[in-house]
Amino acid sequence: MPDSCTYVIFGATGNLSRTKLMPALYHLEADGRLSGNTMILASGRRPWDQETWIKEVREMLQARARCGFDATIFARFAQRLHYFQGDISEPETYPRMHELLSTDARFPQNAAFYLSIRPAEFGLVAQHLSEAGLLNEEHGWRRVVIEKPFGYDLDSARALQSRLGRYLREEQIYRIDHYLGKGTVRNLLVFRFANLLMEPLWNRNYVDYVQITHSETRSVGGRADYYDSAGALRDMIQSHLLQLLTLVAMEPPISMEAEALRDEKVKVLKSIRNIPSSAVHAHAFRAQYAPGLIKGEKAKGYLQEDKVPPESVTETYAAMKLYIDNWRWAGVPFYLRTGKCLAEDQSLVSICLKNPPQQFFRSSQFQQMQPNWILLSIQPKESLRIQMTAKEPGLEMKTRCVALEAGLRHEDETSHDAYEDLLLDVIKGDRSLFLRYDEVEYAWKVVDPVLRVWAVERDYISTYPAGSWGPEESRRLFERPNQDWRHTLEPVSKPD
Ligand code: BG6
Repeated sequence: MPDSCTYVIFGATGNLSRTKLMPALYHLEADGRLSGNTMILASGRRPWDQETWIKEVREMLQARARCGFDATIFARFAQRLHYFQGDISEPETYPRMHELLSTDARFPQNAAFYLSIRPAEFGLVAQHLSEAGLLNEEHGWRRVVIEKPFGYDLDSARALQSRLGRYLREEQIYRIDHYLGKGTVRNLLVFRFANLLMEPLWNRNYVDYVQITHSETRSVGGRADYYDSAGALRDMIQSHLLQLLTLVAMEPPISMEAEALRDEKVKVLKSIRNIPSSAVHAHAFRAQYAPGLIKGEKAKGYLQEDKVPPESVTETYAAMKLYIDNWRWAGVPFYLRTGKCLAEDQSLVSICLKNPPQQFFRSSQFQQMQPNWILLSIQPKESLRIQMTAKEPGLEMKTRCVALEAGLRHEDETSHDAYEDLLLDVIKGDRSLFLRYDEVEYAWKVVDPVLRVWAVERDYISTYPAGSWGPEESRRLFERPNQDWRHTLEPVSKPD
């Protein structure tokens, strides 16, 4: 059983807490993963009392509990809930919290502070926590969990890091990237390093190109105030997709310990070829959704969304081509792509292998070679598929694509939300699925040249109809005519 601790959630009444953090903590309760004395101290500005907070949490969970809401589990969970009214921008909030935590024996002295707040406030909150003595580890550990985005670009990430460094040791900082907590993403490591089968193929000799796609049918919804100053490149590629790329491309670590794993990830990020400003257009593409139809329903364009400035050129679609200059991957393009209001919800790692060296069946009716693909579907389906060519039954030499598929979860196995694992890892002190600062810094170095060019080119942005797969022009990133976007798990096209 992990340590008892006080989980302090700053921004407890906000969206992330409602949709992810509270449900994750409730599910940990249901699974018996929270030790007896663990308490959850929700900090928010609203003038709520204990009773109102418990009622609120009950409503959040009724809508989100995985296997239905269970009143007995909730009654146990509610014992851990405590509401603390305080404004994070007011310095007097923190001594009050310190007083509560040090004098009320219900609160364990180990404490994790989850900053589910505006990124601009991370530094200030860390400073206040430190000045009030809340980060002092004399009577138990003190950890701070920081949501993305960590900075806005390379310079601001450095500034934030240097500010946090004044109040916290690196071991106290848990920079979260919830993609690393997803079961299938972790499976990528198991798949690569617990099996010998793929390793001989996993390099430039056999891989033609790699694609990592995260597509969403969702719009920016009510998040425009954050999203319009971020855009798809910062929101998804700098963080989640580059993390996925490191897991696909890294060398086997010497162990699964946090530092060994993170050392290998950083080596990948450091090996990504720098994009000079003159090459930005050959390596990156952006676009914005226009009105369209998503699954038959009319959808607004980005410029019609609430709180989006009418002249905004923020990208809701971004794609990049990257090269990893090391022995394993020299010359293999990695295409990363993400977008809002696309045709389907899908997160997919697609690895396209090269064609066999000879058109062996040239004289038969088998005209066009289909490459093999290794596909790791992260969501919604959790599966691993290998696409191959096989002969069709019959007298003629006709072929078709077949798939070897392994579902990664049995139907009766529940899927855990990434936040459950990650919240528990914070209590366990396991940082392997959290980002070390150098990972963040090198990830910014990859996207910074593109952001700088896009920041000055503000006259025009391509558009795509909501519900489509994004603009055709994005295909200009491909190196060769045989390369194309892989949208789904299903075969791209059928041979003759
Ligand atoms: C978040 C982004 O980090 O990840 C969102 O800010 C995005 O814009 C989300 O929708 C996607 O996460 P998931 O878990 O729904 O794939």
